[in-house]
Amino acid sequence: MRKIAAGNWKMHKTAQEAKAFFELFASLVPQAKSEILFAVPFTALPSAVEAAQGKNFLIGAQNMHDEVKGAFTGEISAPMLKSVGASFVILGHSERRHLFLENNAFICRKLRRACEENLRPILCVGETQADREEGKTTAVLQTQLSECLEGLSFENAQKLMIAYEPVWAIGTGKSATPEIAEQAHLICRTALAEKWGKEAAKKIPLLYGGSVTEETIEALIVRPNIDGVLVGGASLDAQKFANIVNRIN
Ligand code: 13P
Repeated sequence: MRKIAAGNWKMHKTAQEAKAFFELFASLVPQAKSEILFAVPFTALPSAVEAAQGKNFLIGAQNMHDEVKGAFTGEISAPMLKSVGASFVILGHSERRHLFLENNAFICRKLRRACEENLRPILCVGETQADREEGKTTAVLQTQLSECLEGLSFENAQKLMIAYEPVWAIGTGKSATPEIAEQAHLICRTALAEKWGKEAAKKIPLLYGGSVTEETIEALIVRPNIDGVLVGGASLDAQKFANIVNRIN
């Protein structure tokens, strides 16, 4: 499987700023070997999709609603995202879980909808500092995976990506060590294998996210169960993100 470098811009960059970013970024990664994904704000989707044309970058969103239309003020649906060229969507990011109180059942409904509409979901899972200190990491990851993936068909599992993002590592500058990340990825891989079999589980990309930088990428990406990274802060700067991409073989 090709390694994956995904950027999550969160609530950063206007459409114009996105355009300027891609003009510069494209010139910095002429020999990238990884698959490059950007989850951009909704309003930057059209300009990002246009800028990415012919460049092999995939553009996606950071959230969506599980219904396709209806009285849900302020929400956005999978067909709407598809209509502007999004090809994937991040679901269940810890900021959605903690700041906007999304639970596993809601995330599960979104996930099934994304697959039905042919948007590849990146499901985020991860434990808090307190969970880790209390020895609950394995149980938390297993519960998030089983509840969010409930009812997802074997066929739809082929579209899935998982991001392990320990809450204590997000935006803190305190990345998980490669050992901790690998261990958590193995827990996820095992849970996926129990659900869909070993072969299918091997093909589901497992990304690590949480304070990834050009300094930490190389030690993380060589681990057997780390298939890619989901980068927040460092993906906002074209040069910094290019340095990460160019360190992935
Ligand atoms: P940082 O890379 O800024 O820690 O954010 C990680 C993240 O939340 C990606 O989804």
